[in-house]
Amino acid sequence: MDIHLVVKIIHMTSVALALLIFVLRALTLFVGTQGQQPNPNGRVAFVALQHLSYTVVVVTGVVLLFMKHFDVEPWFYAKIILFLVLLSSQIKVYKKDENILLAQRRAGLVVGSIAFIGLIALVMIKPVFS
Ligand code: HEM
Repeated sequence: MDIHLVVKIIHMTSVALALLIFVLRALTLFVGTQGQQPNPNGRVAFVALQHLSYTVVVVTGVVLLFMKHFDVEPWFYAKIILFLVLLSSQIKVYKKDENILLAQRRAGLVVGSIAFIGLIALVMIKPVFS
């Protein structure tokens, strides 16, 4: 099989894993919460799988960039910005800090959800800007 296709499949599989963990971890903000803090069950596994999936997405994304000789469409830059928004929102939503209220974490989750939905819409629609 073509190596470009293999890397692309790994890239998209990691995106799917990241999306699954995004949804499952979001539940910890609604089910079994402890006062103003998220449900601590499975925290270590969520952190590990989230780190793994986002790392593989970035590494395979960079490999694909090299394979394409950085010849990208204009929407690719929007994709990177949305990805950075997604990452920074997730860092804030799940930061270990007793002073962050659940309502604030949930607001961050809304931002992250919009970024993730935007990312998926972008790669599906591949808008042409010229
Ligand atoms: C959650 C974030 C991301 C999602 C949902 C996503 C999704 C996808 C999908 C579905 C494809 C296949 C598109 C197609 O060929 O039709 C793809 C390809 C690609 N992605 Fe991502 N990606 C994400 C993050 C990244 C990041 C962070 C980078 C760069 C570091 C990146 C770089 C690339 C490149 C270079 C391709 C190759 C496109 C091609 O071969 O034509 N992606 N991505």
